[in-house]
Amino acid sequence: MVCLGNICRSPLAHGIMEHIVKEKGLDWEVDSAGTGDWHIGEPPDKRSIAIAKSYGLDISKQCCRLFRQSDFQDFDRIYVMDRANLRDILALAETEADRQKVKLLLDTEVVPDPYYDSSQFDPVYKMIEQGCRRIVEQELNNQA
Ligand code: 4NP
Repeated sequence: MVCLGNICRSPLAHGIMEHIVKEKGLDWEVDSAGTGDWHIGEPPDKRSIAIAKSYGLDISKQCCRLFRQSDFQDFDRIYVMDRANLRDILALAETEADRQKVKLLLDTEVVPDPYYDSSQFDPVYKMIEQGCRRIVEQELNNQA
């Protein structure tokens, strides 16, 4: 799960996807990272921690990191929140196989950045949850 700062959106996507994966008994590894380096080593934004907590998820132990080249080898899917993330991650892709791994979390829509608008954390949480549930359903259908 990738966004710009790795403190607002992608930590939510990381926590929500981990929760769904556990709920469904899957053995998928989930992680998150940012394309920007301002918050490396920090926990998620307090507002993301709070909105997750209000839905029963604890994301407070997550630690911000930068997206790295090896993520293309380490993960089968790379979900980005918006088109700037998409452009930045595709710019790091070295092969067609790398490029194929990168998708918008919401497929055709973007998850807006709530960093400068605290009222957006709740709608953003809901959008991310819907996106994660859709992805899991699709992956399970593809496996069936
Ligand atoms: P995120 O939000 O990409 O959802 O984590 C942001 C967090 C921090 C900044 C920008 C976006 N920033 O400029 O520090």
